[in-house]
Amino acid sequence: MTRLKAVILAGGFATRLRPLSCARPKTLFPIVNKPLLEWIFQGLSDNGVNEAILAVNALTQFHIKQQHPRKHGLKLKFSIDPPKTPLGTAGPIKKAEKLIGHDAPFIVLNGDIFAYLNYKELFDTHVKSGALATIALCKVDDPSRYGVAEMGKGNCIKRFIEKPPRDKAPSNLINAGVYVLSPKVFDYIPSGRPVSVEREVFPILAEEGKLFGHFVNGLWMDIGKPEEYLETNRIILDSLTKNIKQKKAKNFELNYPVALDTGVSIGEKSVIGPYAILGKNVKVGKNVQINNSVIFADVTIDDCVSIDGAIIGEAAKIGKNVKICCDCIIADHAKVRDNLELSGKVCPGKEVSENVLKPKVHC
Ligand code: GTP
Repeated sequence: MTRLKAVILAGGFATRLRPLSCARPKTLFPIVNKPLLEWIFQGLSDNGVNEAILAVNALTQFHIKQQHPRKHGLKLKFSIDPPKTPLGTAGPIKKAEKLIGHDAPFIVLNGDIFAYLNYKELFDTHVKSGALATIALCKVDDPSRYGVAEMGKGNCIKRFIEKPPRDKAPSNLINAGVYVLSPKVFDYIPSGRPVSVEREVFPILAEEGKLFGHFVNGLWMDIGKPEEYLETNRIILDSLTKNIKQKKAKNFELNYPVALDTGVSIGEKSVIGPYAILGKNVKVGKNVQINNSVIFADVTIDDCVSIDGAIIGEAAKIGKNVKICCDCIIADHAKVRDNLELSGKVCPGKEVSENVLKPKVHC
């Protein structure tokens, strides 16, 4: 029996999620207290995929092995980009050629996409059409940040343009970051150098009439930017807490939707939520208010703190009487002293001892 394989591209630098991504790869960012990669494994496994090849750099491999997300029955293999030479989005596929093999088409997905798609249907459509590549297409309002497909007859993509200016985009059908490739596509990827699948491979396949699209309407979200990351957490939190019994707390208030991981402690008169996600062992003092925010594991928050619309990285320490404003990002192990007001970004391990009121990077 052929094993259904998927390649997960997760070796990028996630520059748009800095400084949080300085300490962890995008694919391990928690989505409602579970690493994104674990959600991806689950989606693939539910669709009959048996094996996932993680195309990463050595540092990302290290982080994944350390965190060892649940595999959901998948067999995992790593394919590592050469040191100091990121291979782009097609180079890693070529590099993994031997692991992938030539016997069957395979699925490729970006490791920074939260998607609950019918991968099986995408795969079957690809096999039936005889295309060399079939892209999962999503409809969005502004296609200019994505790869855009101009459709021809049937499901054939006539033209594929990466990130066109908004007024030049030929449609609002975009590459969802998930596609199926036939092994013949290896011949289109030069080896030993960075290659972009979106800029160098898809446009040629489109010209040759070998690129197809398959419209998907499942859940799909890109977590590439901080606001998208927060929005993804909000949407998933909503869907997970819709039908759960809301617990009443004795000394503090929970305004649902809220997610509290194990070991969380909350002081009296604190108001948590709506849309507050607290990771493992987060310690919250008295009179604290948290909403619209994601707090990673092991964070300590002292008394009389308010946090609104922020992301706080692992093991950060927030002092007494601190106000953390909207869009603030505090990276892992950062420390914020007492009596401060903060917006902008704080780098990993940085200690902040003065107000930061303008959106700036505090390193
Ligand atoms: P930004 O720097 O914020 O644009 O993020 P990114 O480059 O990490 O992500 P982008 O959306 O550009 O890439 C899409 C997917 O391909 C992501 O899951 C990346 O991790 C992955 N990717 C990007 N470049 C590389 C690379 O050089 N090697 C590997 N193995 N994966 C890559």
